[in-house]
Amino acid sequence: MTKKRYTVTSALPYANGPLHIGHIAGAYLPADIYVRYRRSKQQDVVFICGSDEHGAAITLRAKKEGMEPQEIVDKYHNLNKKSFADFGIDFDVYHRTSDPLHHKTSQDFFSELNSKGAFTQKTSEQFYDEEHSQFLADRYIMGTCPKCGYDSAYGDQCEKCGSALSPSELLNPKSTLSGNEPIKKETKHWYLPMQDHADWLKNWIENGELDGEKQHDPSQWRSQVIGQCKSWIDGGLRERAMTRDLDWGVKVPIEGEDGKVLYVWLDAPIGYISATKQWAKDNGKEWIDYWQNDAELIHFIGKDNIVFHAIIFPILLKVHGGFVLPKNVPANEFLNLEGQKLSTSRNWAIWLHEYLKDFEGQQDVLRYALCSTAPESKDTDFTWSDFQTRNNSELVGIFGNFINRVVVLTNKYWEGKVPERHELDSYDQSVLDEMDAFPEKIGGLIEQYKLREALTELMNLVRLGNKYLADTEPWKLKKTDEKRTETILNIALQIANHLMVLSEPFLPFTSHKLQEMLNVQKSCWDKIKSIDAAHHVGKASLLFSKIEDELIEQQMAKLGK
Ligand code: 2FM
Ligand code: ZN
Repeated sequence: MTKKRYTVTSALPYANGPLHIGHIAGAYLPADIYVRYRRSKQQDVVFICGSDEHGAAITLRAKKEGMEPQEIVDKYHNLNKKSFADFGIDFDVYHRTSDPLHHKTSQDFFSELNSKGAFTQKTSEQFYDEEHSQFLADRYIMGTCPKCGYDSAYGDQCEKCGSALSPSELLNPKSTLSGNEPIKKETKHWYLPMQDHADWLKNWIENGELDGEKQHDPSQWRSQVIGQCKSWIDGGLRERAMTRDLDWGVKVPIEGEDGKVLYVWLDAPIGYISATKQWAKDNGKEWIDYWQNDAELIHFIGKDNIVFHAIIFPILLKVHGGFVLPKNVPANEFLNLEGQKLSTSRNWAIWLHEYLKDFEGQQDVLRYALCSTAPESKDTDFTWSDFQTRNNSELVGIFGNFINRVVVLTNKYWEGKVPERHELDSYDQSVLDEMDAFPEKIGGLIEQYKLREALTELMNLVRLGNKYLADTEPWKLKKTDEKRTETILNIALQIANHLMVLSEPFLPFTSHKLQEMLNVQKSCWDKIKSIDAAHHVGKASLLFSKIEDELIEQQMAKLGK
């Protein structure tokens, strides 16, 4: 049997602005935790991401800044790539959709679909801005949402109520280029008749079956993902244009069709494939191995991307043939900030590159806070005061405190040498048994995408260690019962070593420091090696430091400015 492979993708962020904590909590941190866990189990996993550089979001931004689209995407591709790396989001490849390899891959994909009769061609009337002599992409049209009445809804989506829209549904449509009411003009496009796929999609999503085979376990899919797909399918799937009249994007690979490009939501997910190709080329691998047969494809996304990853892309993959369909699409809900929706235009956001500057070396604090409040099943709220408490009470007060006590005691009483373990009493044994159960407990939760709970369990392991020390008080026994003290410290050091391994997916920087402090090799998730007696640990250093009120006040003051 060939070994299973995991192909894990995080939504390609638009290269039209910097990243904020909403992005991180939705699609990047969860995926990074999941991937680091798989790597720690020494499984074959590739972690794919890159910049989404096409679509109206980019051309609009370029217009606004008086720059060329390529300049805009270069700027934000580099900024975001660096922010991810600095934050420890450890992609195997961070590709970009303006790369020629991607253009060729998506053109070939389109041609294959076209030759298989995936599309219908149709001429229809589309909105056109006469002043700018340009057809208007959905994002270039704004108007009133027919569902909730919000007056600044885009032609493809209302950001207030989240409804997917088509521009002709908008009331009082206006061109964002000229502000004028657009006229309608005829143009030809390639459409994907999604309704033709409703039956197999429904069976695949609700029962996990495809072509008579079980593909996935629907009980492992988040209910909101299944719910959203069901409501799309039950509400009646419609055809959707897969090409656009634009000059920025992947050209439609058909002669005589100048001025037309692929719809960004057609080319972006194919970007996962192009990125895999790039990675495979650079690393002596076969990209196709990660997209067929034994590969498990997992898409980490925010909830606004569900339809594209659980309906449209699966249709494209299936019709093309030769690809697996996603095993799971663990979409997250939204993260709010201080009780309000994140807003880039109002600067109601915490920007990743700014956090990295303001909280140098404290990546894990934000990783911890975001994972603790991850919007896995409902929208959640990030607050600076919660962030501060989680750092000061949990990371400093519980985690850092335990490690510090263990390493300081080892240095103080045994000159850094791990003491021997003597006879165990029943309490020692129960602590060791409990410790041994954590890799499977935490791993099982990660495999079910319950990362919040997994992190809680990690902290329970720290609590186990703290309680053990508090109960046994080895520092009091040193003079009267040397052997007992040695055994207790030895066990506490094994807990610290487990924490080094099990914290790595969540808190990679901390795990690395801990590894240096304990002076040990990284061990595999389910085969954590004991630290031998007489092994030398390093000196204690601070894993976390207290965050003062002043810093939090400064951050609060930045919001909305
Ligand atoms: O919503 C977004 O930010 C999109 N750029 C996500 C694309 S995901 C994938 F399809 F590439
Ligand atoms: Zn609305």
